Order: sequence, then C-alpha cells, then structure tokens
Amino acid sequence: MSGSRSAKDFFRPLAVGAPTPLTEIPARPSRAIHFFDPSNPKMAAKIPDLVGTVDVLLGNLEDAIKADNKLAARQGLVDIAQSTARLGGPGSPTQLWTRINSLDSPWALEDLTTLVGEIGDRLDVVMVPKVQGAEDIHYVDRLLAQLEAKAGLDRPILVHAILETARGMVNVEEICGASPRMQGLSLGPADLAADRRMKTTRVGGGHPGYLVRQDPPQNELGVTDLEAPRSTYQQDLWHYTIARMVDACAMHGIYPYYGPFGDIADVVACEDQFRNAFLLGCVGTWSLHPKQIAIANKVFSPSVEDVAHARRVAAAMGDGTGAVMLDGKMEDDASLKQCLVMVELAEQLAAIDPELKKAYDAIEEQTA
Ligand code: GLV
Ligand code: MG
Repeated sequence: MSGSRSAKDFFRPLAVGAPTPLTEIPARPSRAIHFFDPSNPKMAAKIPDLVGTVDVLLGNLEDAIKADNKLAARQGLVDIAQSTARLGGPGSPTQLWTRINSLDSPWALEDLTTLVGEIGDRLDVVMVPKVQGAEDIHYVDRLLAQLEAKAGLDRPILVHAILETARGMVNVEEICGASPRMQGLSLGPADLAADRRMKTTRVGGGHPGYLVRQDPPQNELGVTDLEAPRSTYQQDLWHYTIARMVDACAMHGIYPYYGPFGDIADVVACEDQFRNAFLLGCVGTWSLHPKQIAIANKVFSPSVEDVAHARRVAAAMGDGTGAVMLDGKMEDDASLKQCLVMVELAEQLAAIDPELKKAYDAIEEQTA
C-alpha cells in the first residue's frame, strides 16, 4: 500500500542514483531455497558444486548462526559470492539470497551495508526475518536504495519477508504491498509458534495432538458407544497461515513459500507438508539439508500427469470460451485458467531444468 504517497511516486527510486524499482517481480524458479552457514568452511566448500543444481542458495546470517560467528558468516558470504562463478545476479542458474539478522539486532545494519557494498551486484533477494509491519519494509526499502546508489548498482535488490510474528500475520497484506521490492513471503513456523504462544516444540510440520475424531458409533438401539474405537485424523496446523499468506501474495503479485521443515530424517512428512503448500499456491520452500532440495524440486514442479492433463484441456478449449466435456468432466474458462497456471509453470521450469524438459516433452510426443 502506498499510504499517502502518490501512485506515481511508488515506482520512483527512494534515493538519488538508485535503480528504478521494478513494476513486476520476475517469475524466476525458486523451488528450493537452500540455506547454508557461510561461517562453516565445510559448507562453504560445497557451494560451487551446488550452483546449477538448486534454484536458490541462501547465505544465512540470522538464527542458527552463533553470536560469535555472526561476523564470520557475513564475511564468509562476501567471500563465497566473490569467488563462486555463476552464483547470483542476472542470468545466473542459481540465485543468491541472504537472510540478514533481525532489524532490532546489533548486526542488521552492517549486514546490509557490507553485503550491498561488497556483493550487491550478485545478491538477488534479501530475506528479512521477524517482520512486524510495513514500517520494517519501508526502513529496508530506503536503506537499500541509499546503499544501491552508493554502490552504483543498476538493478534493485528484492526483499522477502518471513511471516513469523503474530503482528506480521495480522499485517500480512500491508507487508506484501509495502514496496515494489517485495518479492515474496515465507512461513516461519518456529518463530511464529513461539510468538503466538502455540504449544508446540517443533520446526514446521504437523502435530499428533492437533486432530479431529470420528463421532462415536451408535448401536442398533440408538445408544452411543463411547468405548468403541474411533478413527482420528491429524489436521494441518499451518493451513490458516499458509492460506492467508497465499492470498496476500497473490493479491500483490508476489510469491509465497513454505519455510523450514526441521525433522530432516522424516522425508515423508516433509514431502507432505511441501505438497500441501504447493497445492495451496506456494512456489517453493526452504531446504535445510541437501536431501530436502530433491524433495522440493520434485514437489514444486508440476507432475508429468498434471501437465499432460492441463495441455489436453487447453487444446480442447480452443479459443478458451464455452465449455467442453473431457472424460466425463466439464471444463470451462475457470478450469482452463487453472490448467494454464500449470502449463506456464511447467514451461518456466523446463527452461532451466533439462530433465524436466525431457519428461514434459515426452508427453507432447505421446499426445501429438
Ligand atoms: C524460521 O525462521 C522460523 O522461525 O520458522
Ligand atoms: Mg525464525
């Protein structure tokens, strides 16, 4: 929301000499945002090999980095960006993001000044944690413009907010619309749970206690049997939050993401959570371990079957008006639009992922 600013001013740079804000956020594939600790030499050594295998590499400076390592992580990220080819910047196969420290921490200001000054040309997106409202985005927006102008950058660095405070949740729409730099939002289930005083102790995922139970059966005399076994179904703790996040992002033309799934060994539940988020409209998720990259790439790429179906509907609908019957099901403008979301995403991903391209092309040949 532009507040009292004129709509025309919204797309003017916030500092003399800063790059012009974008009017649209480019749809760059970002199925997995793989977190790494830039202060950890073992992790840093693996970065060059990950370039081209994951859509986004994110140098994490915030939580999970010990206070004593904050400066080493910041400098480590500068070194990695400067020494790794094809990482970050326009046209790179793997985007470079960072998660800075929270705005009330002793590190956030210098995280931004150092990173924009040293590697601003490589940095695609800055993830800001614990965002509370539009005022946090306005602060980062102006500061980035000043720093971009100073560094002589010719393209604006985008901003991504983590939805991990109750106030941020209440203000989610104004956060999404607070700046043309806003690229997207991620669910931050761990901090959000703590801030809301939820009674969980996990990082993402469901909880066995959050369930619904089948009604008790009645016997033939109509007497309720409260002793009989009844099925229970675990519910998704994050449904409301993700659904609100997706609407706020879609309304503002930016992208929603699942966040961290902390139980690295439970790849099945991880895939389920990611898939729920994908079905509800998210474009990607965080990856905290290399094995989560593969899960994210699989889940956030439309399946070959879905793409085949979507293309069939698109072909059958011709000019897109009216309705047709396909396999006994009614298809019309609204189902066509859903199918086009799928086809468009498949095309974007095929352009960067040769394996997927092969799989999607194979359907083309079968249906041709
Ligand atoms: C992520 O930062 C979270 O708090 O879940
Ligand atoms: Mg957090």
